[in-house]
Amino acid sequence: MKITDEKNDIEYILFSEEEIKVRVIELGAQLTEIYKNSAPVVVCILKGASFFYTDLCRQIKCPIHMDFISVSSYGKSAQTSGVVRLLKDLDNNITGRDVLIVEDVIDSGLTLKYLKELLEARKPKSIKIACLLDKYQCHAPEIGADFKGFDVEDQFVVGYGLDYADNYRNLPYIGVLKPECYE
Ligand code: IMP
Ligand code: MG
Repeated sequence: MKITDEKNDIEYILFSEEEIKVRVIELGAQLTEIYKNSAPVVVCILKGASFFYTDLCRQIKCPIHMDFISVSSYGKSAQTSGVVRLLKDLDNNITGRDVLIVEDVIDSGLTLKYLKELLEARKPKSIKIACLLDKYQCHAPEIGADFKGFDVEDQFVVGYGLDYADNYRNLPYIGVLKPECYE
């Protein structure tokens, strides 16, 4: 049975707080194994990835360096990305380092393509991508993440960092926004 949250404009809850927690612990264990000897720079893409990032970092049980980057994308609507612009750069020098980019959702893949190219030019040892949600029907397969929380259909979701016009980020779960809220 689908659980709604009328008060917060949510048609139904897609992933509960508990389901997210379990998945983040699994991803953290996987990343701990991969990065146990390399102290990677783990990059949060602000603001959407913020909750996923902090929860995930706490589940990576080996040394890491935390860093933050901010980009804005302009497009036809709040859902689709157009031109990507850098608002805040990293503080760390990533040359020769392992880098893990943490993103909230891959939609068209444009944001990640831009960021990957930007960071690759700095000659890191490796770049991998962890995304919470993958709208797998919306982008070419080669843009996909190395690690992902969940696959989602092409629908607009909010909560756990994800927004619509900067609203709904602090909902503790991920839910499908009522279409009348953005149509
Ligand atoms: P892309 O560049 O098309 O892959 O879009 C990625 C960005 O669009 C994400 O970082 C989000 O900020 C935003 N986005 C895409 N789909 C959704 C959604 O369903 N809910 C909230 N934000 C979304
Ligand atoms: Mg956003």
